[in-house]
Amino acid sequence: MEMNSANVEAVVKQVLESMLEKQTAAPTAVKTGTGNDGIPRTAHVAMLTALEHYDVKEFPMPEVGDGDILVKVEGCGICGTDAHEFKKDPFGLIPVALGHEGTGEIVKMGKNVKVDSAGKPLKVGDKVVTCMIFKDNPDITMFDLNKQNVGGADVYGLLPDDDIHLNGWFSDYILIREGSTVFNVSDLDLKSRILIEPCAVLIHAVERAKTTGILRFNSRVVVQGCGPIGLICIAILRTMGIENIVAVDGEQKRLDFAKKMGAEKSVNFKEFQGIEALAKGVQDAFGGYPADFAFQCTGSPIAHANIYKFIRNGGGLCELGFFINGGDATINPHFDLCSKEITLVGSWVYTLRDYATTFDFLKRAKGIGLPMDELITHEFPLEQINEAHRTNLAMEGLKIAIINQ
Ligand SMILES: NC(=O)c1ccc[n+]([C@@H]2O[C@H](COP(=O)([O-])OP(=O)(O)OC[C@H]3O[C@@H](n4cnc5c(N)ncnc54)[C@H](O)[C@@H]3O)[C@@H](O)[C@H]2O)c1
Repeated sequence: MEMNSANVEAVVKQVLESMLEKQTAAPTAVKTGTGNDGIPRTAHVAMLTALEHYDVKEFPMPEVGDGDILVKVEGCGICGTDAHEFKKDPFGLIPVALGHEGTGEIVKMGKNVKVDSAGKPLKVGDKVVTCMIFKDNPDITMFDLNKQNVGGADVYGLLPDDDIHLNGWFSDYILIREGSTVFNVSDLDLKSRILIEPCAVLIHAVERAKTTGILRFNSRVVVQGCGPIGLICIAILRTMGIENIVAVDGEQKRLDFAKKMGAEKSVNFKEFQGIEALAKGVQDAFGGYPADFAFQCTGSPIAHANIYKFIRNGGGLCELGFFINGGDATINPHFDLCSKEITLVGSWVYTLRDYATTFDFLKRAKGIGLPMDELITHEFPLEQINEAHRTNLAMEGLKIAIINQ
């Protein structure tokens, strides 16, 4: 373009106008960062970008499709699986938005979303949690124990990264995509909602244990491992009315908490030399009898091998401690299984129906005075997620949670 005084004037005017426009428009976007609907234009997601390292990344807020739900995250617990991902990435997901024990408030819903996975109405402002993303018909899973929990299901917080990125609960917003499972849990407080996912693991394990026909009100039950999983197991047994519970762990603080959660007695395995002495210690805790039933809640193969020695002839065992491969365990099939006629069940996550049971369990547990809230011992903001994970690995507390203010 040839420059003359007329078009120079026009260009200068254009530049000035555009500068003025930027000056007036920019402060609004930068100051609030929100759109007309009051929702921020960006979301923050803690992405595990390398082993033992999260970066809190900012991504554009995605469009909410007709079947989608946008949730403002309130909090999310750190699970043993997150710890494994943090340390070793066994699922090969890095970079990944982790966090599957999350809950938050609906801020926007697609026009097709009317009810949750149990048929309960949903509206903006409701508090929700997600369960698994089943590849089949979720209605079937709701009412049938048809093994859809075993393989073939995804979960928010363990999804491969995609161009939306809002796939995990360690974030300030998450986009629940059409076809996911979601529950309206507005009647539960924040801490209870954060505990739903791990509690559902134990509701399922106890359902599996009941299929053996051995677990009864007056059963002697040993729970080995008093991390959050074992402690919740004890709380569920107690809430069901089972009282004769012995907790086994090597951490005295955890054993003391096990008693608050409903264990009658506790056994510190570190005080015993060898498995025979330990088995006698467990037997003594039951007044001289072996256990009728055992729950194995550690990820230790040695602990798996040990637990058979605590169980009576004809007793039962539920093994749920190995969400990831912890290696092989050596047992003696003659002494440990055949000659004792042990009934063994494995347990793997949960079904939708277990979720519904879990909501009631949490209310009942609080109702009988179990200190469920005390399971959450540490709270960190999203920006301190690396520190939160390190605290978790140091076993300084029980359940560590990321809480958004
Ligand atoms: N089956 C499932 O679907 C499922 C779901 C979630 C977690 N898990 C698994 O459950 C296990 C427990 O989870 P968590 O969050 O409570 O873990 P955690 O690491 O906090 O607790 C494990 C506890 O076991 C104790 N322990 C270790 N070795 C022991 C031994 N030989 N005897 C007695 N106690 C021993 C530890 O001191 C610790 O207190 C993990 O391995 C996790 O992968 C399974």
